Amino acid sequence: MKGIIAKYRKYLPVTDKTPVISLQEGGTPLIRVSRIEKEFGFPFQLYVKYEGLNPTGSFKDRGMTLAISKAVEKGCEYVICASTGNTSASAAAYSARAGMKALVVIPEGAIALGKLSQAMIHGAKIVAVKGNFDDSLKIVLAICEKYPVELVNSINPFRIEGQKTAAFEIIDDLGRAPDYHAIPVGNAGNITAYWKGYKEYSAIRPVMLGFQAAKSAPIVDGHIIKNPQTIATAIKIGNPASWKKAEEARDESAGAIDKVTDDEIIFAYKALAGLEGIFCEPASAAGIAGLIKYNKKGYFKNASERTIIAATLTGHGLKDTDTAIKSCDHPVVVEPVIEEVCKILGLE
Ligand code: F0G
Repeated sequence: MKGIIAKYRKYLPVTDKTPVISLQEGGTPLIRVSRIEKEFGFPFQLYVKYEGLNPTGSFKDRGMTLAISKAVEKGCEYVICASTGNTSASAAAYSARAGMKALVVIPEGAIALGKLSQAMIHGAKIVAVKGNFDDSLKIVLAICEKYPVELVNSINPFRIEGQKTAAFEIIDDLGRAPDYHAIPVGNAGNITAYWKGYKEYSAIRPVMLGFQAAKSAPIVDGHIIKNPQTIATAIKIGNPASWKKAEEARDESAGAIDKVTDDEIIFAYKALAGLEGIFCEPASAAGIAGLIKYNKKGYFKNASERTIIAATLTGHGLKDTDTAIKSCDHPVVVEPVIEEVCKILGLE
């Protein structure tokens, strides 16, 4: 069955009257990353849920198929979101498919260009504000109070309902819930969704480990961050909408929400690409960066080769090619002569 509504219909708030707007999202691979396990001396099995392979290149599509289907059912003409990029890309694509108009408010200059290009090409109406994501969301919420537009940020409960299906798929693939689940945290919708999914689908549940970027870590620091900073623009958020729910997921699962530096994020990002052939966007690597950090400090000392950890890679690396290019050596330019080319290639 294609698409998360078709696949998990009985777990989702849809009826025969709900028009299903789908791009066949979900069904993403769960990949064992043995070379990462070996490189970092992980005593456990690590599987990554590669959400970059969704139709618009991020996990947002799982929630958007449901949010847009419900908006169409309700007869809405307009949907609106604030975004660090991926939500707007997904909202724009699913709105196009539904014949609706997507309105998007983004922080100026803080969106990876792949994501912005998606929102633009799908025909969203986009405004960039001279502020950050938190300012953008505040404006969007105020607009929703005043105008008949449907909010499709993760405060919309249908977004969470759709996104919880990723946890279902992990359990279906493994034949059981993992022992731990590592995940990046930004606006905190996805950790909320996974925890809901695990609770609904399995009596045995993982310990949830959420990771924020060090200078955008309001949940860890215990207060709103006025001017969040990080290279991982997707999670550059200082006042997450689902803050309380993320804390509930952490506490109910006896887990943790912690932070990782930009250097740790880029290190994990390059390790996934270089050791496993998996290209995710920087924010996506925060979960793996967190596992490396926690393993070093002995958090997994009781784990064995039977321990299973799942980590969500939330978005595709092609969303943000600037960061990839900036974090690698650039190609050497030579004359088109075989000797010169071979010299550079180390084929002397
Ligand atoms: N990873 C990526 C690639 C994201 O785009 C986001 C959030 C997250 C992780 C964090 O997920 O917000 O549910 O905790 N992106 C939102 C957006 C904020 O606007 O695209 P979260």
